[in-house]
Amino acid sequence: MSVTEIVPGLEGVPIAASAISRVDGQNSLLEYRGLNIETLAEHSTFEETNFLLLYGKLPTRRELDDFIRDGARHRRLKYRVIDLLKCLPEHGHPMEALQAAVPAIGMFYPERYHPGTEQKRLSCLRLIEKLPVVVASFHRLRTGDDNLIPRPDLNIAGNFLYMLRGEEPDPVRTRILDVCLILHAEHTMNASTFAGRVVASTLAHPYCVVSSALGALSGPLHGGANEQVLTMLERIGSPANARAEIRRMVEAKEKIMGFGHRVYKTIDPRAKILKKYAEQLCRRSGSRFYDIAVAVEEAASEVLSDRGICPNVDFYSGLVYAELGIPRDCFTSVFAMARVTGWLAHWIEQLEDNRIFRPTQKYVGRSGESYVPIERRG
Ligand code: CMC
Repeated sequence: MSVTEIVPGLEGVPIAASAISRVDGQNSLLEYRGLNIETLAEHSTFEETNFLLLYGKLPTRRELDDFIRDGARHRRLKYRVIDLLKCLPEHGHPMEALQAAVPAIGMFYPERYHPGTEQKRLSCLRLIEKLPVVVASFHRLRTGDDNLIPRPDLNIAGNFLYMLRGEEPDPVRTRILDVCLILHAEHTMNASTFAGRVVASTLAHPYCVVSSALGALSGPLHGGANEQVLTMLERIGSPANARAEIRRMVEAKEKIMGFGHRVYKTIDPRAKILKKYAEQLCRRSGSRFYDIAVAVEEAASEVLSDRGICPNVDFYSGLVYAELGIPRDCFTSVFAMARVTGWLAHWIEQLEDNRIFRPTQKYVGRSGESYVPIERRG
């Protein structure tokens, strides 16, 4: 088959058949394994959603209990990984620390190169359980706090908040973070998932797959947007300034962070859920950011919504994370702690019917040039 036209950003080009998740961008719909995201956010937990994404079905009570118990056994980091985190510059970005730590964690498991069913299961549990511990540990160590040992009696969200802040996690905040993790766990063929699938197609081990996906997620057009949204809200400073600043940005062709999506041409269903939590948390704390965000949403919608540019998942997620006490430069890492499940589900799916990705290019350079010896070059 020969395709001659370049499709910028591969827009609309299917690169794999996938049964993991589905987006209907016209109707604000997202499903994981056929289950609606609103239903999962209301009734499920991150752990149950992880089982669903990895195994393709909801677990029985016994399967879920075993999955949670087995997972919590893989939370602790090797002391040499903690030493590695201690050696990283404290002003480095947490996403860089995560990307440095993941392949290093993999080095402790020689079986990573032989992905049988049991090894796949173990790699998934290790990566899902250890990523939040790396993020929390790096943050504690860079701020001069002692590293804490993860607690197996808490769920992933609760343990993360406990390790980050060093105090018993509040159940309401834990549940809100749990829902955030559900909402970010998977999202069809986005840039980081594609990057992960390309690396998976070379038969690289899962720690490399996740590390490459982390690099892709870190960019401001992808997972990095949530940090930028809060910076923008801070700069705007008050609801009264929103309209003028948004109009200035649009005229200057600056992108409004947290707006726009390749697939959604209406509001992202995850943004609707996060907006509710952002309001709940900001009202409780008295933060002004929710009112600024709503004013920005209204002002940006006035000028952008008729072009299908609407709030995406990142518009309200940063606000929620800030209210949960998560440092701003950790927001994208929290996204990664959730999305690791989606990347791993795609890794498994890619290996089921693998062919190495090897696209082509349209050559636009010179040809048949003669070699000029260096002393004769002008
Ligand atoms: N603000 C202002 N204009 C925008 C925005 C925005 N946020 N997003 C798209 N546009 C305009 C863009 O300038 C372009 O206009 P024109 O046709 O006049 O040149 C048009 O819409 C198409 O934009 P694009 O960048 O070609 O669209 P894309 O499908 O390639 O990119 C996107 C999608 C998400 C990268 C883009 O909307 C964007 O940069 N948004 C801001 C960053 C952001 O919020 N990223 C998070 C995405 S959702 C979570 C995730 O995937 O991590």
